[in-house]
Amino acid sequence: MNKKTVRDIDLKGKKVLVRCDFNVPYDENRVITDNRRIVAALPTINYLLENNCKVILCSHLGRPKGEVKPEFSLDIVAKELSRLLGKEVILAKDVVGPDAVAKAEALGEGEVMLLENVRFEAGEEQNDEELSKKLASLAEVYVNDAFGTAHRAHSSTTGVASFLPAVSGFLIEKELNFMGDAIANPVRPFMAILGGKKVSDKIGVIDSLLEKVDTLLIGGAMAYTFFKAMGYNVGDSICEEDKLDLAREIMDKAKAKGVKLMLPVDTRIGKEFSADTESKVVKCDEMPDGWEGFDIGPETIAAYVEELKNAKTIIWNGPLGVFEFEQFAVGTNEIAKALADIDAVKVVGGGDSAAAIEKAGLADKFTHISTGGGASLEFLEGKKLPGIEALQDK
Ligand code: 3PG
Repeated sequence: MNKKTVRDIDLKGKKVLVRCDFNVPYDENRVITDNRRIVAALPTINYLLENNCKVILCSHLGRPKGEVKPEFSLDIVAKELSRLLGKEVILAKDVVGPDAVAKAEALGEGEVMLLENVRFEAGEEQNDEELSKKLASLAEVYVNDAFGTAHRAHSSTTGVASFLPAVSGFLIEKELNFMGDAIANPVRPFMAILGGKKVSDKIGVIDSLLEKVDTLLIGGAMAYTFFKAMGYNVGDSICEEDKLDLAREIMDKAKAKGVKLMLPVDTRIGKEFSADTESKVVKCDEMPDGWEGFDIGPETIAAYVEELKNAKTIIWNGPLGVFEFEQFAVGTNEIAKALADIDAVKVVGGGDSAAAIEKAGLADKFTHISTGGGASLEFLEGKKLPGIEALQDK
């Protein structure tokens, strides 16, 4: 990585503003259901504490759209972070208001505070200069460690970097090293597994990967757009009728580039979108009317696993079926299990596929599981991430 990190500047005893991505999922009782993003921020926070910094953390949670909404308070994160750090995390009642300013002012060396949800400020998502300046005025150094939000050009991710020495934390460094290396210098065969709902969401990443991979394996609902483009009946499956030409272009491009494009051969279909709907497996070219495709079938799983066994580098982004429903999680889970035993560099590009691997308890069998959803997708597309661009070059 060509950006400075916390290692490259003197921050001993300084007041440091750290942008984290604490946008974690939580249930209706406001209990955090997956704390990975908080855990992933610990190495940077601990490093700053070891250097006697006064640590001021900030993050968004959800999309409160510039309004103060208690259900989006970072109180649940402060509590979980206190537990993980084994020390109190002081929560400010506002972002750059009197409480945050007073608490930041009074903060001692080795202490940690967390500003309230930055998206309670209307200026955050507009990258408002005034807000950026106010955030900067709280500290002497800015550290961005919010890889998951690095694709957003907001006040706390980019704007603030114009007003303070700005460097990256260890999480951003790690994400860029693992994902960047896997793409730039893959040991071959290099294979990518792409799932998710829409071809249109993934077109950028498909285009970019077709330039690099040896095999591209497709799953998830976007497969049905390919089937429709091939002239198959897709029943009631999700299908982007206006993207059939795009699907054909992708197939043509794969052929022209010599990339093996693998599509499912069978699919598990259901009567309706629910956990316990009636379901069965059919060949992809024999989909009956009135049914919807929700997962890849056993023949596809077997074929994909056979192919993946030859890989030396694998990138996976997006679940292969409706993995929140047990009977349609089989494809995603079986591929995750098979990958666990394959000896290759295995990088998972965040979001739902990462959640599936965590849920199956297989995380330690992967080289890297990104904390980014949209950010890792944009990174894989080869796009520049504004939150990283804004940092000082080495
Ligand atoms: C994410 O969860 O992908 C990041 O935290 C960014 O959130 P956003 O999509 O609301 O900007």
